Amino acid sequence: MAHATLKIIRDEHAALAAMLRSVLLLLAQYRRHAETPDFALLRAMLFYIDEFPERLHHPKESTLLFPKLRLRSNQVAAVLDRLDREHEQGESQIRNVERALLGFEIVGESRRAAFEETLQRYVDFYLAHMRTEELEVLPLAERVLTEQDWAELDAEFSLNRDPLTGHEPDAQYRALFSRIVCLTPAPIGLGPARS
Ligand SMILES: [Fe+2]
Ligand SMILES: [Fe+2]
Repeated sequence: MAHATLKIIRDEHAALAAMLRSVLLLLAQYRRHAETPDFALLRAMLFYIDEFPERLHHPKESTLLFPKLRLRSNQVAAVLDRLDREHEQGESQIRNVERALLGFEIVGESRRAAFEETLQRYVDFYLAHMRTEELEVLPLAERVLTEQDWAELDAEFSLNRDPLTGHEPDAQYRALFSRIVCLTPAPIGLGPARS
């Protein structure tokens, strides 16, 4: 049976991966055209990552899904330990990216490469993290969790949905999402496609 929790996690991963790739794409465009970035847009995109995946998605995995899995199986204990550590590092990693962006904005061109490298490392880190969850953790969860586990998880995971997975954003986030969607190229947004 397909469980809501699994779909929500996979959809949220897809939204985060698309957002991370969109930031890289934008940066590559800015570099090719030797342009000064739209810093407000980049800040909005990083704010989204901080506000949704960092504060909602990863904590739900660490506090709800992983403990249930640890109870049912010791097969992936070491992997879960590593993923938990990565969730803890997420906060300081996004701060590093935001700080590098601030350096680029305030100091200028000499900080472009440092920002690009910091962001690339962050994107690589999160794509690898999500790949491990999808390839090792979710398939095990499908095998070992009980119907009662799934019912509890589905109720919790259905709260606080990420607006980039097709859910209407709260009023407080509407301006943020329309800004991101209007200015960012596909796949996240409707902004102009450029070479
Ligand atoms: Fe995670
Ligand atoms: Fe995840």
